[in-house]
Amino acid sequence: MTALDAQSKRTYPIKQVGVIGFGQMGRGIAQVLATGGYEVLGFDEIPNAVNSGVKDIEQRLSKAIEKGTLDNATKDVAIKRLRAVSRKDELASVDLIIEAVVEDQSVKQTLFRELDSLCKPETILATNTSSVSITKIAAATKRPEKIIGMHFMNPVPVMKLVEIICGLQTSDPTYETIHDLTVKLGKTPVTAKRDFPGFIVNRILIPMLNEAVFVLMEGIATAEDIDNAMKLGTNQPMGPLALADFVGLDTCLAIARIFHEELGDDKYRPCPLLVKYVEAGWLGKKTGRGFYNYSER
Ligand code: 3HC
Repeated sequence: MTALDAQSKRTYPIKQVGVIGFGQMGRGIAQVLATGGYEVLGFDEIPNAVNSGVKDIEQRLSKAIEKGTLDNATKDVAIKRLRAVSRKDELASVDLIIEAVVEDQSVKQTLFRELDSLCKPETILATNTSSVSITKIAAATKRPEKIIGMHFMNPVPVMKLVEIICGLQTSDPTYETIHDLTVKLGKTPVTAKRDFPGFIVNRILIPMLNEAVFVLMEGIATAEDIDNAMKLGTNQPMGPLALADFVGLDTCLAIARIFHEELGDDKYRPCPLLVKYVEAGWLGKKTGRGFYNYSER
């Protein structure tokens, strides 16, 4: 235990943050960090993913300028804070890494094992996982006290929430540091004190989305009526089927399967229609087809 660990309510200083995985979520996380005043080093296995992500961020910030919610100088400073790196060892001295790679337990464990051996001992390693156990990821490292879940919602720049998840061995200073950072980024933290599948948001959300697919499969209502029912009847900004398309049907299915397996209760069984759509490659908005056809929209 370090001297810092021994004191409660202490935090580690965070200036430079590495973001690994520059897909939809990683880009959003990098944008929020850069506009929040942090220096960001981005890494992705796919060459040019970070540079194309930075272009995306530039476009989004330009739109904000057009709308009058951001000024040119703030945008320029934020963009200058973003830098692509081509090797993971270039992240060795950052204060925090936020991982946003594919939702696969073994991929994450392998990555965290490697980061643990590359990074300075003080570096906190956070994962944006929506469903993989933080404790299992931490077990792949020799710094389980510095491993934590930092689950952003999609679209990251818009959604106010960050769910913070403590693994079995996450230390108080690690938690306090991430809690403080979340507030500094203008987000509202909630804490999952126990590392159970789906944490808070997905434990409630995914069964609801899955149930909407059952309602569709059973022919109770059309996709449009199911979505309108929940939008207009419960004031949700998007209906559950449109939201499933937005999140990605493969992601929804992967999470539902983890619940079914790890919680061992049949109430979490994935709807066969959801399975069929994923088998067909209808993964939602990102492939142009899910419960809705986006190529026609
Ligand atoms: N990235 C950045 N900004 C975006 C965006 C994106 N992908 N999509 C929309 N926005 C911004 C727009 O620029 C706009 O900004 P402005 O208010 O400054 O002009 C604002 O969001 C509203 O966008 P639109 O007017 O185009 O569209 P809507 O009003 O229909 O809002 C929405 C779109 C914000 C996506 C809204 O429909 C919504 O809140 N939907 C629910 C999203 C949700 O539930 N997310 C959580 C999913 S669960 C999750 O992420 C967990 C995971 O583990 C599964």
